[in-house]
Amino acid sequence: MTAAFDFAPLLPAGLPPPAAKWTGLSKYSFVGGNNDPEQVPLDGLIESVNAVLRREGRNLATYGLAHGPQGYLPLRQFLSAKLKRDAGISASADDITIVSGSLQALDLVNHTLLARGDTVLVEQETYQGALNRLSRLGVNTIGIPLDGEGMRMDALAAALTEFRGRGIRPKYIYTIPTVQNPTGSILPEARRAEMLRLSQQYGVPIFEDDCYADLIWDGNRPPAIYAMAKNGGVIHIGSFSKSIAPALRVGFIVAPWEMMSRMLALKTDAGSGALEQMVLAEYCAPHFEKHVPKLTRGLRKKLDTLMEALGEQFGTAAEFEDPKGGIFLWVKLPDNVDTLKLYQSALAAGVAINPGPEWTTDKAYGKSRTRLCFANPSHEAIRAGVAALAEVCRREFGVPDRIANVQQQARA
Ligand SMILES: Cc1ncc(COP(=O)(O)O)c(C=O)c1O
Repeated sequence: MTAAFDFAPLLPAGLPPPAAKWTGLSKYSFVGGNNDPEQVPLDGLIESVNAVLRREGRNLATYGLAHGPQGYLPLRQFLSAKLKRDAGISASADDITIVSGSLQALDLVNHTLLARGDTVLVEQETYQGALNRLSRLGVNTIGIPLDGEGMRMDALAAALTEFRGRGIRPKYIYTIPTVQNPTGSILPEARRAEMLRLSQQYGVPIFEDDCYADLIWDGNRPPAIYAMAKNGGVIHIGSFSKSIAPALRVGFIVAPWEMMSRMLALKTDAGSGALEQMVLAEYCAPHFEKHVPKLTRGLRKKLDTLMEALGEQFGTAAEFEDPKGGIFLWVKLPDNVDTLKLYQSALAAGVAINPGPEWTTDKAYGKSRTRLCFANPSHEAIRAGVAALAEVCRREFGVPDRIANVQQQARA
C-alpha cells in the first residue's frame, strides 16, 4: 500500500492550529452572527440578479468589472449616499473600498498597522473575530471597560495616559460604537466626541466597526465617529452581512487615502466577488430604506421571544440589559456557571451558545456570561432551545433551581 503523503514536515512555523471539520449547525443554534432566513429579501434579490446580469453581465469577463480594485462603482455610489444619510459621513465613491466581508477589512487594517508586540485598545467585551486575529498576530490587546453606554472614556483616558507613561503608543482604539457586540449598547455622541479628543491628544487612531448600525430598534443613531473626526484619524468599516445576508460576503472600508492606498496594496485577491456587488447595488439603491425597518421589526420580535423564554425558564438566574438593536443578547448567569463547560454539555444536547470568555479580554468576567444570537432560530426554536439550555444548566450547575414546566406542574 502506498503511504499517504505527509505535508507536516513542509509546514512553516507559526501556522494557526488546523481547522476542525464542519459538523453542521446544531438543532437550536444561538451562535454566530447569522441572520433571519425569513428576512432575506429573496424576491428583490432574484429580480436584481436578473436585471443586472442582463444589462451588465458581460462585464464579468473583466477582473473587477473594469471598475478597479475598490469595487463595483454603483455599489460604492450607493454607499456614499447611504453613509451620508444615515451616519453623516461625507465620503465619495473613491473613499470607499468594497471587501469580502468586513472580516477582510479587519485583516487589511491589521496587516497595514500591526506588528508582533504592538498594543491595541479594544472594548473589554468585544467581537471574538477581532480578538482572535489580534492574538494570532501576537498583539498586546488591552480591554477598556464598558458601561450601559459603551466604552468608558475615563478608563480609555487612564489607559492612554498609562501607556504614554511607559513610552508605548497604541496602534489603534478598536470600537463597535453603534450596537456594540456583544452588549448591544450605543455610544452617545458626547462620548464619541471625547474619544476623538483623546485620539487626537495621544495620536492614536480610531478603528470604527459599524456593522450593526442599520439594526437599531428606533432607527436613531448618533453620527459615525468617522463623520465627527476633523483630522482624518478614523478608519470606518461596515457590512451588508447584518442588513442583507452574511453569506454574500460583502463589506466595505472608508478611510483616508493614505491608509486606503496601503490596504489596497495588501488586497491581493483581484477584487471581491463581483456578482454579489452587482446584485447588492441593484437591490439596495431602490429598496434598502424600506427593507431595514421591516427587518428590525422582525428582529425585535425575536428578541422579545428570547427575553420572555429566558424569564420563563431561568427566572432571575438570567440577567441581561435590553439591547438597543442588533441580533445578540449578552446574558449573565449565576457566578457558579462556567459557560465554557455549559457550552460543551449544551452542544451535546443540541443547543449551541457562544461562551462568554471568547467575547472578552477579561476571561474571569466572561466566565458566567454567554452571547445568544436570536436572529436565525425561529420563535419556536428560540423557546424550545432556551428550555433545553435551562435543563442542561440545571443538571450541570444546579441553576435555575427549577425550570418553568416543573414549577407549573408543582403549582397545578
Ligand atoms: C463586530 C463585527 N465586525 C465584523 C464582523 C464580520 O462580519 P462580515 O465579515 O460578515 O462583514 C462581525 C460578524 O459578526 C462582527 O460582529
